[in-house]
Amino acid sequence: MIKLENISFTYKNKIALDNVNVHIEDGEAIAIIGPNGSGKSTFLKLLNAIIFPNQGKYIFDNIEINEHALKDAMALKLFHKRLGFVFQNSDAQLFCSTVFEEVAFGLIQMQLEVEEINKRTFDCLKLLNVDKLKDEHPYNLSGGEKKRVAIASVLAMNPEVITLDEPMNGIDPKGKSFLKELLIALNKSGKTIICATHDFEYIKGVFKRAIVFSEDHKIIRDDRYENVIKDKEFLKKYNII
Ligand SMILES: Nc1ncnc2c1ncn2[C@@H]1O[C@H](COP(=O)(O)OP(=O)(O)O)[C@@H](O)[C@H]1O
Ligand SMILES: [Mg+2]
Repeated sequence: MIKLENISFTYKNKIALDNVNVHIEDGEAIAIIGPNGSGKSTFLKLLNAIIFPNQGKYIFDNIEINEHALKDAMALKLFHKRLGFVFQNSDAQLFCSTVFEEVAFGLIQMQLEVEEINKRTFDCLKLLNVDKLKDEHPYNLSGGEKKRVAIASVLAMNPEVITLDEPMNGIDPKGKSFLKELLIALNKSGKTIICATHDFEYIKGVFKRAIVFSEDHKIIRDDRYENVIKDKEFLKKYNII
């Protein structure tokens, strides 16, 4: 489904990903782990074609993803429909004047029938337990509520792959366990989940695989999730705990 081959990415002159090689199959649930600044967010931005590699190849479902491939508005829309991104900072993701519009936005862009838009929007609002907030301005919500709305807007598009950047940050324990169960259910329903996290306790049971980045922006381990989080010595050595 997803193949990254010898990918490097540099911000101006600051390296953020160094020769990354990853293959991801349909239906996987993967945690992206590493110390601050190791490249987790950059990795997710690259998967979402927000940035493009300076070196190497990114293949999504047999198509090489680069600026040229996504130049056409239709190709870009189709790509973002298949792969959804829940930003670390919900404020950067929410821009409509009501919660309802926020979740409906992508569906309107896809020019679906009004009935279908309403149905999918309400279903997702209910699934994330924010249907009562539908007429609120996203700006006035709590951090946890914003996160739920951002997730609802991604799920409304019914993407095959869902990427999330530290979704547990700033969420209360109840919200965290809700999110954990949601990720498990989504993965069971066949969605591929790729999630940057360092919240190992709350997120137990979600991931089968962990990809670990080091401070020098390389992948240093790609292993079963359980093996990685059990290996305290390894996690300490690389400043992850
Ligand atoms: N917009 C940017 N401009 C310059 N450097 C950046 C930018 N975003 C991230 N970086 C740098 O790239 C490296 C990787 O960052 P990031 O992917 O955000 O790491 P993580 O998500 O693991 O904390 C860090 O050294 C960071 O300082
Ligand atoms: Mg980050």
